Amino acid sequence: MPSTSEQMRWDQRYRAGEILFGEEPSLFLREQAFRFTPGMKALAVADGQGRNGVWLASQGLDVLSVDISETGLQHARELAARRSVALQTEVCDLTTWTPPLTGFDVVVEISIHFPGEVRRQVHRNLSDAVKPRGLYLIEAFHENQCGRASGGPRDRDMLSTRDKLLEDFREFSFLELMEGTVLLNEGPRHQGEAWMVRMVAQK
Ligand SMILES: C[S@@+](CC[C@H](N)C(=O)[O-])C[C@H]1O[C@@H](n2cnc3c(N)ncnc32)[C@H](O)[C@@H]1O
Repeated sequence: MPSTSEQMRWDQRYRAGEILFGEEPSLFLREQAFRFTPGMKALAVADGQGRNGVWLASQGLDVLSVDISETGLQHARELAARRSVALQTEVCDLTTWTPPLTGFDVVVEISIHFPGEVRRQVHRNLSDAVKPRGLYLIEAFHENQCGRASGGPRDRDMLSTRDKLLEDFREFSFLELMEGTVLLNEGPRHQGEAWMVRMVAQK
């Protein structure tokens, strides 16, 4: 994959060695534990330093963790080794990536944001990677987060809403779809009260 400015930006952030969003999974993902069974094939997209992918692996899932940053994924592999779990990793740009044809029982997308048209295309592409009756989970910063310092992008077009996800996943059934504020405590970059959208959808 040719390196892009986005890749260089994230590699540089992660290279400083700091664990930007902590090593524990998002609380939202942890609350969904009852939906997962050992052996499920999971895709952790834009998994960064691996906190969510490694936690899924610790639940017995067979996890592929992908991200544009090789440096982030190096940290993810180190975290997996410290927790004694298996984690497959792949560097990819989600805006052009073709997921494996074998499909996934669960796709987990935590805190990754793209401009409107790109987001729709990425969601179409990744939806195709979900097996029939498989799950797609998202936690993303909401448009109302614009201007808050507790995390997420500043550009409104990159922020999410319930309506945007209803549209992107209109062929799925929504098991949960909520927007509102939560108190984040995830490493130095996600701290304090934040507006979020949380989705669990089934194909
Ligand atoms: C805010 S971080 C979230 C990381 C992780 N999901 C977490 O919750 O800890 C956003 C991640 O998206 C990745 N990313 C940004 N653009 C990407 C792209 N086009 N394809 C794949 N990953 C990308 C970055 O490298 C970064 O790890």
